Amino acid sequence: MDYKKDFVEILFSQLQDNLDVQKLENMIEIPKFENQGDLSFPCFELAKIFKKSPQQIAIELAKKIKLPKHFQHVEAVSGYVNIFLNKQIASTTVINEILTKKEYYGEIKNGNKKIITIDFSSPNIAKPFSMGHLRSTVIGNSLALISEKSGYQVVRINHLGDWGTQFGKLIVAYKLWGEKQKVIENPIKELLKLYVKFHEEAEQDEQLNDQARHCFKMLEDGNEGALELWNWFKEESLKEFNKIYQLLGINFDSFNGEAFYNDKMVQVVQLLEEKNLLKESDGAKIVEMEGGLPPCLIMKKDGTTLYATRDLAAAIYRHDTYQFEKSFYVVGNEQSLHFKQIFTVLKKLGYEWHHGLTHVPFGMMLKDGKKMSTRKGKVVLLEEVLSEAINLAKENIEEKNPQLAAKEEVARQVGTGAVIFHDLKNYRLNDIEFSLEDMLRFEGETGPYVQYTHARASSILRKGGYEESLDLLTFYDEEAWPIITKLKAFPDVIKRAFEESDPSQIAKYVLELSKAFNKYYGNVRILDDLEQKQARLSLVYCVQITLKEGLRLLGIQAPEEM
Ligand code: ARG
Repeated sequence: MDYKKDFVEILFSQLQDNLDVQKLENMIEIPKFENQGDLSFPCFELAKIFKKSPQQIAIELAKKIKLPKHFQHVEAVSGYVNIFLNKQIASTTVINEILTKKEYYGEIKNGNKKIITIDFSSPNIAKPFSMGHLRSTVIGNSLALISEKSGYQVVRINHLGDWGTQFGKLIVAYKLWGEKQKVIENPIKELLKLYVKFHEEAEQDEQLNDQARHCFKMLEDGNEGALELWNWFKEESLKEFNKIYQLLGINFDSFNGEAFYNDKMVQVVQLLEEKNLLKESDGAKIVEMEGGLPPCLIMKKDGTTLYATRDLAAAIYRHDTYQFEKSFYVVGNEQSLHFKQIFTVLKKLGYEWHHGLTHVPFGMMLKDGKKMSTRKGKVVLLEEVLSEAINLAKENIEEKNPQLAAKEEVARQVGTGAVIFHDLKNYRLNDIEFSLEDMLRFEGETGPYVQYTHARASSILRKGGYEESLDLLTFYDEEAWPIITKLKAFPDVIKRAFEESDPSQIAKYVLELSKAFNKYYGNVRILDDLEQKQARLSLVYCVQITLKEGLRLLGIQAPEEM
């Protein structure tokens, strides 16, 4: 049952001369406090049209409205029309809906199986997987899951940073100071050391930068020796990245990184030339932008291409290959200008599909209020953070539940759950101050708290001997009303999370549902009242299903025991 839609229709029958359905729907609010009803319609905008006070309008509307039986009553308070649901009908309806749909509850068919490509994670090879890339990874993965739940088909793309001048630098550094054995033993750490040393030395010796440029040119021209080293660096890096993806339970459909587009760049440059968009500037080739944006650099003096050129080739390739409806780039907000430029160039090239391109930016992970920089070697290694979280989860299990089966797997789920949730509960555009202590917290507003609530629900179901039944049931329990209102809201939360590319709404939602459930559990003896037991267990089951599904949409697993 869609209460909101019903309320919109009721209002529309009164207000059709002044507001359309879409507008009405957007105006409806879910009140914060229970005594303000379940749905609320503000009359402030109408005040201008009707030239009456909002409260006057609310009173008149409340009088005129005819309520169907699943609405209990209507009130006009401070310029709002507040609707109260019939709790009995609402409770029964949502419980039966979840019991029937199970993990499909909340699914929306909006996407009609159209394709969304999501470019996320995209770390740079020969460098450690940074905390910034962790943000892209967990946000992108969650958006992929939310998009699928919204009826889209998702192509997950890891646009590896495996091309560019930095590989010239690395090859020079390796040839000067590198030791093969050390790189084999500890590839990322060793390559990072070389990279940092290169920058230190280059400050004294300008020549090194020329050599690096020359070396990258050799790579782009297909020099075998250079390519061999590059390939080796890439393979070693991928091994390390895959360890992390495996821990996090994340998969990609494509690992086509920047290098993949090397042979597709000529075509981009040609296209730009045909459309007369390329201008010369100091020997380099650029596309000029309007609106005060700096020009987009396409080709350097020496004929080598840039990050932007490769992104243009990638966008065109992706559209040719997948015919996407939408294409998301989950990349830090420090790259906003880059994406504005790319999207503008594609528009200038006359691609109508540029409308489907969206940069989904996020804030920085700061350390002591400052950005972490790879160049200076100031990074926190994600692999270390993850393994610490997992170890801590293991210690917890040993202490509280040493009998637990599959300890290792549960520890992985809880440890990574803590790290992922710590990120996703924040609105993505906010900067996050890195704190290992916070990431490893298992109590309070954390992933493990939600996982623990889910495990508690599972254990109640086991203890109560809950058996699923196909019969529809009647459910009403005044104390359970806060849970019911939450359960009811799930589909709408998913819809908004998708529309606003905002997983934090789901993270906040599972926290609230957990709190409501734990409070209920503290007050109500679920298993003692035999008459109500079966109905209450059904409620517990609905909570369990919804928490598990909510966590899944964040990329977090929900163990039955922990
Ligand atoms: N490798 C880049 C970086 O670490 C991110 C790539 C994002 N994706 C893209 N298509 N540009 O900054």
